[in-house]
Amino acid sequence: MEVIIVKNYQKMSEVAASIVARAIAKNKKVVLALPTGKTPRELYRFLIKAYRRGSISFKKIIAFNLDEYVGLSPTDKASYHFYMKENFFKFIDIKSKNIFIPDGQAKNLKRECRRYEKKIKRYGGLDLAILGLGKNDHLGFNEPGSSFNSKTRVVKLSKVTRKANAKFFKDGKIPVFAITMGLKTIFSAKKIILLASGKEKAEAVKKALAVPINPQIPASILRQHPNTIFILDRAAASGINK
Ligand code: GLP
Repeated sequence: MEVIIVKNYQKMSEVAASIVARAIAKNKKVVLALPTGKTPRELYRFLIKAYRRGSISFKKIIAFNLDEYVGLSPTDKASYHFYMKENFFKFIDIKSKNIFIPDGQAKNLKRECRRYEKKIKRYGGLDLAILGLGKNDHLGFNEPGSSFNSKTRVVKLSKVTRKANAKFFKDGKIPVFAITMGLKTIFSAKKIILLASGKEKAEAVKKALAVPINPQIPASILRQHPNTIFILDRAAASGINK
């Protein structure tokens, strides 16, 4: 495992973008796992700029999102479908047939989870998973207590997560459930990048890197992965510097 500490959010995003750009340039077909949230916004902007410059193309990229809320339609502004389109996909040349995001409105959610897991396998598994970090150390929506053996499934969101994400739901109707890739699914990626920025993530980062590896701290599993890079800005790393 490697830990890279940079001075600020901008630099964190730039370093991440250069790793992603390299992975894309090297390979013909790359299967990505992609995050949402505040953290990866600038990374997506960097990648869009690189695409516009002509240095990278997403034509052969397969994208699987980490998660989606249950019950939200893709046009709902708080949905991750909407986020991905507005922050990334509509600006690049990725083919819509190569974009996969769990369907939170599926009639049979369990079947949707099995389908998602199978799709990832059919494309040969994840090459590169890009992750944000929840304040409670969640990855995707794998809340504390998630099994390290978990696959894509429906999960109940914790109070901490619902509070943290409340700002995205102007009507106050914060979903209670979500579909998320499992920790085993994420861990199966050949390479993983975890991004964390800001003081509000310092405690989560410290735990992820320092406590004994255990399911109460989902991000701690990454320390067992042979090819993981934590990219942190100074504020997020402030707990481990001490
Ligand atoms: C959300 C997402 C995660 C994300 C995390 C942090 O709930 N499900 O994939 O990494 O919370 O979000 P942010 O980057 O906004 O702090």
